[in-house]
Amino acid sequence: MTSPEWWRHAVTYQVYVRSFADSDGDGVGDLPGITGRLPHLRDLGVDALWITPFYTSPQKDHGYDVADYTDVDPLFGSLADADALTTRAHELGLKVIVDLVPNHTSSEHAWFAAALAAGPGSPERARYLFRDGRGPDGAEPPNNWQSVFGGPAWTRVDDGQWYLHLFDSTQPDLDWRHPEVGDLFEGVLRFWLDRGVDGFRIDVAHGLVKEESLRDQVVGEGESLGSGAPTGESMVERTLRDEPMWDQPEVHDVYRRWRRVLDSYDGDRMLVAEAWTQTAESMARFVRPDEMHQAFNFSWLLAPWSAKAFADVVTGTLEAVAPVGASPTWVLSNHDVVRHPTRYGGGPVGLARARAATLTMLALPGSAYLYQGEELGLEQVDVAPEHRQDPSWFRTGEVGRDGCRVPMPWGGTRPPYDFGPSGEPWIPQPADWAPLTVAAQSGDPDSTLEFYRAALAARRTFATTAGEDVEVIGSDADVLVLRRGPVTVVLNCGTESVPLPAGEVIIASGPLAGGLPPDTAVWLG
Ligand code: GLC
Ligand code: MG
Repeated sequence: MTSPEWWRHAVTYQVYVRSFADSDGDGVGDLPGITGRLPHLRDLGVDALWITPFYTSPQKDHGYDVADYTDVDPLFGSLADADALTTRAHELGLKVIVDLVPNHTSSEHAWFAAALAAGPGSPERARYLFRDGRGPDGAEPPNNWQSVFGGPAWTRVDDGQWYLHLFDSTQPDLDWRHPEVGDLFEGVLRFWLDRGVDGFRIDVAHGLVKEESLRDQVVGEGESLGSGAPTGESMVERTLRDEPMWDQPEVHDVYRRWRRVLDSYDGDRMLVAEAWTQTAESMARFVRPDEMHQAFNFSWLLAPWSAKAFADVVTGTLEAVAPVGASPTWVLSNHDVVRHPTRYGGGPVGLARARAATLTMLALPGSAYLYQGEELGLEQVDVAPEHRQDPSWFRTGEVGRDGCRVPMPWGGTRPPYDFGPSGEPWIPQPADWAPLTVAAQSGDPDSTLEFYRAALAARRTFATTAGEDVEVIGSDADVLVLRRGPVTVVLNCGTESVPLPAGEVIIASGPLAGGLPPDTAVWLG
């Protein structure tokens, strides 16, 4: 898209690097694999890709545990491969967003190794959150915080001190009140900006700064500590109302500094926040004019299958971002949540609903984020216990996020479905995916892939010309009617067919049988 501020209307495709395409046959996706498959994204019709972390990492949380922020893990390739990917993407008209993980490092980062070696009270420890324990011999954690991945958020080291990790024990939290931490990340931003990336997705953007006292979390009436697997739902629901570890006012100073850095570069470089905040208003604080450009709007993803619920999310989102002038975002799936056809019930109904929700989303003002494989209608996979790798599985014994991270099927009739030249994919693919491959769906007008291509083509001009306003014309429990510019969108969440309003059908998410069948959406012009 050539308009300024490309991100305002962009459709961005999330590439989960381990599972997109494997070039060297080791069963793990890599950067040359992505580069080789970029034409798929061009043909799909997206504007940008966001690539999950590919930096040096022991892979305890599959790259969200970074040991060196300015190098590429050999598993995924080299810096030259990263540059080649960016260059090729730009040639194809695609913007490149990389993932930045500033809340924590890997326990294998040089800073953490130095902190362990230097001992209590040292300047090296001050970059992390080391504290003495409670109880007579300090054997109790310093406070009652729980890890998002289950269990206490503190781990004790040999000399008796404890360090904070809001995620896995291999992901120690940095102390963002320490000036060297901010300087490190300004350098990291500049490193990748200099290499030509167009933006950053900021991991756990609401978590960087903790309440200084590190006091206990207050357990309110009817609440309990404890946390489960980090599904999207539990990212929100695991929290108590009182959250001294999330969404502290000082975190916004970090993003103001980063915005100044981005603004000093040419082109429209952007920041998008992954911030699981409690309200739409608190999310909007991350996208004030001098902070980030966008934040993922998880309320769309969390909405139940109800026209009224979708309508409330649309109005609530637009009301929240309007005062700060930010563009809204919409997302149905990512690498942390159950894939949306499965969330909507699975099988043919789940898929029909997923397509309908997607078509509705693509009509909304702002930008949309897609997750690899949703264009194939992939469902959550029931990964066998011996193949599960999510750190939360090891911490809690609960099924984690592996089922949405199964490698992509590109062609062929058997695993690895052209995911790579050979080798066993790092998570096994189901035996019945042959009809779902990119090759199998291409050219079949009824396929989910061709539906996505058509929907993105229909959106292309419309998104930049239809204006920023959307009017909710009607929404009872069953039927949502929206109007944006020249287009009327109708989504049927009910169980009966409803009559179609006047107008010419631009695109529908499924067959129209005289009216609008259940679990179907349509654009009329
Ligand atoms: C974010 C990522 C998730 C990761 C966590 C810790 O929520 O999306 O995959 O496990 O942060 O970095
Ligand atoms: Mg590989």
